[in-house]
Amino acid sequence: MSSSSSSSSSPSLPAPELPLKPVPGDWGHRFFGPIRDRLAYFYSEGRDDFFSNRIQKYKSTVFKTNMPPGPFISSSPRVICLLDSVSFAVLFDTSKVEKRDVLDGTYLPSLDYTGGLRVCAYLDPSEQKHSSLKYLFMTTLATRHNKFIPLFQTCLSQLFNDLESEISTKKKASFNTLSDAMSFNYVFRLLCDNKDPTETKLGSKGPKLVDKWLLFQLAPIGSLGVLPSGLGFLEDVMLRTFAFPFFLVKSDYQKLYDAFYDFGGSILDEAEKLGIDRDEACHNLVFLAGFNAYGGMKVLFPGLIKWVALAGEKLHKKLAEEIRSVVKAEGGVTFSALEKMVLTKSVAYEFLRIDPPVPFQYGKAKTDLVVQSHDAAFEIKKGEMLFGYQPFATKDPKVFENPEEFVADRFVGEGEKLLKYVYWSNGRETEDVAAENKTCPGKNLVVLLCRVLLVELFLRYDTFEVDATVFMFAASVTFKSLTKASNT
Ligand code: HEM
Repeated sequence: MSSSSSSSSSPSLPAPELPLKPVPGDWGHRFFGPIRDRLAYFYSEGRDDFFSNRIQKYKSTVFKTNMPPGPFISSSPRVICLLDSVSFAVLFDTSKVEKRDVLDGTYLPSLDYTGGLRVCAYLDPSEQKHSSLKYLFMTTLATRHNKFIPLFQTCLSQLFNDLESEISTKKKASFNTLSDAMSFNYVFRLLCDNKDPTETKLGSKGPKLVDKWLLFQLAPIGSLGVLPSGLGFLEDVMLRTFAFPFFLVKSDYQKLYDAFYDFGGSILDEAEKLGIDRDEACHNLVFLAGFNAYGGMKVLFPGLIKWVALAGEKLHKKLAEEIRSVVKAEGGVTFSALEKMVLTKSVAYEFLRIDPPVPFQYGKAKTDLVVQSHDAAFEIKKGEMLFGYQPFATKDPKVFENPEEFVADRFVGEGEKLLKYVYWSNGRETEDVAAENKTCPGKNLVVLLCRVLLVELFLRYDTFEVDATVFMFAASVTFKSLTKASNT
């Protein structure tokens, strides 16, 4: 992994006249095809090899395959896979693809998990409710803008204190547990008028309650990765034969609902003014806080720490120099100070490019349409499911030089032009969130938090080392050392 030379190539755009080809690949038998593919995807080949093997086989970045879970949970696992930067972008065009009930792919968890309602993230922008809910979330965040940085600094300070004390007693510390506690605290306090969730009936259990609720919904499309690969079929039967019933987490969900109902009153009042029923708004608030925000942060922060740790001490030194000098000149960690930290900004984007926290996106063709890759055009029929595996789109070698390398300064200077090929938020990094599109409304907040995490880390420490593995959808990170800043 290099953190030195900038590497921006000119992205090659698709030629105007591309040959129209049938989509290669096969879905196989209705029942056995999806099982064959999911065993290969999870166990015999593994996620990334599954896709790269088929790119080789079909000599195409667009092909047919099945995506999990398949039988008996989803009745239509057939997808057309999009694995390059050009074809992937069709998923952002909501005039061409329908985003109704596709958040988790080819299956929709029981609506019991969301109060019997289709919450915002399940709605297509053509549904009127989508715009009102998304507008509510966008204004909720906008009115809390001034709290973003100071509240996060408070939460991070606790996180670093806890990390230090665990390392001093146990010689190592699991980052994920502490990061989850910090993230839940931050999200709850941001949305609930600074109320500390540990002072509510939730106590310190908030993160665990959400984890269980998330796990039960997402189990059919994940893998625990704890069984030896030869025994993968056991996990496959366990996780992907029947969906987990909601009653097992009903009381956990009720506790979360009650806490947000009691302390998220200012958002619920705003919702009522927009004509959204209070109960519906509260179920949406639980989903926003638990699934979208906290669920995203579960993957986001460990991933960022992992990539920055692996980039090594040379990068740490450069980041510390930039961060400390800008903070000194600007008199603190402000929005304008963060804008001036060009390397820190680039590192956050480079992480979001190389390891996007939500790697899957789906959309159903609204009409018959043509999708282009770099070198061919494909006819897609109305109703067919398009599936983009994002790490392949944002590591497209025709757009990014040395795509598999973590190049810390990739987006500095001229490199900024490549930001339009960074897709982590379900939209181009250069385009704005709108009530009418499906881009994450937390987009700017998320990038900001990545930067502030780096800033606070390198104000406090010179360097650090971790061990990293993978659990379910996230990096699992253990701190082995933290070296305190030498000049403070
Ligand atoms: C922390 C890291 C986060 C990541 C990685 C993330 C990522 C994403 C992605 C990829 C989507 C699109 C899903 C799809 O339709 O395929 C999305 C949607 C959404 N995100 Fe985020 N998000 C994060 C944080 C947040 C935060 C902090 C909020 C708000 C407080 C938020 C609220 C939402 C909502 C409401 C949607 C649905 C948007 C719509 O229906 O138009 N997310 N997010």
